Amino acid sequence: MKLLEDYSLKKHNSFGLDAKAQALVMFDSIEELAQRCTTIKKSLLLGGGSNILILNDLDYEVWTYNVKGRSLLSEEEEYVLVEIQSGENWHETVLWAIEQGYGGIENLALIPGNCGAAPIQNIGAYGVEIKDVLHCVYGIQRDSGLPMSFYKAECNFGYRDSIFKKELKGKFIITSIVLKLTKPGYHRLNTSYGAISSTLEQRGITDPNCRDVAQAVIDIRKSKLPDTKVIGNAGSFFKNPVIPIDQFNEVKSNHPDIVSYPVDDASIKLPAAWLIDRAGWKGKTVGGAQCYEKQALVLINKGNATGRDIFTLSQNIIDDVKTKYGITLDREVNLIS
Ligand code: EPU
Repeated sequence: MKLLEDYSLKKHNSFGLDAKAQALVMFDSIEELAQRCTTIKKSLLLGGGSNILILNDLDYEVWTYNVKGRSLLSEEEEYVLVEIQSGENWHETVLWAIEQGYGGIENLALIPGNCGAAPIQNIGAYGVEIKDVLHCVYGIQRDSGLPMSFYKAECNFGYRDSIFKKELKGKFIITSIVLKLTKPGYHRLNTSYGAISSTLEQRGITDPNCRDVAQAVIDIRKSKLPDTKVIGNAGSFFKNPVIPIDQFNEVKSNHPDIVSYPVDDASIKLPAAWLIDRAGWKGKTVGGAQCYEKQALVLINKGNATGRDIFTLSQNIIDDVKTKYGITLDREVNLIS
C-alpha cells in the first residue's frame, strides 16, 4: 500500500481536472484494502477515473485497487470462464481475449477504464453490454472488508445501470470479474449495430472474425470520440433517455425527423446526442468546458476547465433540452464532491 497526502487527481480522472484528494491510497492486495475498509469510514474507490466529474477538492481519501491478473477458471466445449482482477485495463483485456481466441467482448473495444468498474455501469457499445458475458463478480463489503460475490442475475443490470450504482452504491468493492467467453467455432459476432457492417464492407471483409470486429469498433470510436490523452472528456456525458411511447408521439409530432430506437411495447430510447445537437449546443462553452463539435453527447475540458464549468454546462444543456423537448436528460457520468 502506498499513501500520498494532499494529492492532485489530475492524472486520475479522464477530464484532467486538477482537484485534490486528502490522500491517494494505492492498494496492491485485497488484504490491505479489506483492512483499511474497517478503519477508514469515508473514501472513494477510483477505477480508471473515466466516468467521473470531480466538482471540488475532496476532504477524504481516494483509493485505487491495482491488483492485476487474468486466469482461466474452467473450459467447456463452447466457452471458457476467465477471472480478471479489477486493476486490469478494460481495453487491454479485450485485446488479450482476442489474442487468446476468446469471443464476446470485441464490440466493447476501446472503452476506457478498469475491469472492476465495468459492471458498475454495465458498460456497453455497438449492441453488446458486459452483462451479456458476465458470469459473476467477486469483491468485499465496504464497511466490514468481508468477501461477497454476485452472480449476473443478482446484479440487476439495466441500460448503464446495476445494483452497484443503486442499492449497493458505496457499499461494495469489486475486486475481480468472471467472464464467460466463447471459444473458436462458437463465436456469435454482432455486427448489426451502427457503422460496424458498413466499415467491414468498405474493407472488403465478408467473413469477419473477432479481431476484425474489434478493429472496426476501434476505428469508429476513434473517429467520433476524443482521445482522453489529448482532450479531457468522459465519453458519453449523458444517458440516452428512455421515454413512454405517448410522450414520444408528442415529441415526434413537433419534430418529425427525430431519431429513435424501440425498447419495448411501452417505451422508446432517444439519442441524447440528437436532442443536444438540435438544441444548438455543439461547440458552446462555459469557462473551459465545451460541448464537443464532433459528438454532442461528449463534454470536453478545453484545457483549463473546472469541475464546476463542466457541471454548469451540463446543467444548462439539461435545462434547455427540458424546455425544448420536455425530456429530462440524466448524467451518465458520476458527480463526485
Ligand atoms: N447524433 C447527432 N449529433 C451528434 C452525434 C450524434 O444528431 O453530434 C445523432 C446521430 O444521428 C445518431 C444518434 O445521434 O443517430 C446517436 O449517436 P451515436 O451513435 O453517435 O451515439 P449513441 O448511439 O447515442 C451510444 C453510447 C456510446 C456507445 C455508442 C455505440 C450512450 C449514452 N452512449 O451512443 O457509449 O459507444 O452508443 O454503441 O448510450 C459511453 O458510454 O461513454 C459511450 C461512448
